Amino acid sequence: MKELIKKAIEARSFSYSPYSGFQVGAALLGKSGKIYTGCNVENAAYGPSNCAERTAFFKAVSEGEREFERIAIVGGHEGESVAPSPCGVCRQVMTEFCEPSFEVIMAVSEDEYEVMTLGELMPKSFDL
Ligand code: THU
Repeated sequence: MKELIKKAIEARSFSYSPYSGFQVGAALLGKSGKIYTGCNVENAAYGPSNCAERTAFFKAVSEGEREFERIAIVGGHEGESVAPSPCGVCRQVMTEFCEPSFEVIMAVSEDEYEVMTLGELMPKSFDL
């Protein structure tokens, strides 16, 4: 838990968020044991912006990992730290690759966090 949150905090430092000023970092643990990090990457056209969680998922899947244990997310405006709750698009991406038991760690710090399962965050989700 703490290790994953620490990696998410490190990833947050790479956030490219000049438009919202909200910096997010994520660290995703694959079933292989490998950790994939991500940050939010914004764009002047707004729409092409990518959340930290999806950056981590797309890095992982593009490197061959498709099964996951948990993800840690941290973020906030400059100088603050809140426990970000993943957006609906990221929840749908998680649903594509994760079981309902997948754990989402929304962290303020290594010692202050809330854990919810994907099943709790995304009940009755759409899947083919
Ligand atoms: N954002 C994330 O990266 N993850 C979240 O869980 C919430 C929102 C990003 C998107 C955008 O770059 C900024 O935070 C403000 O919404």
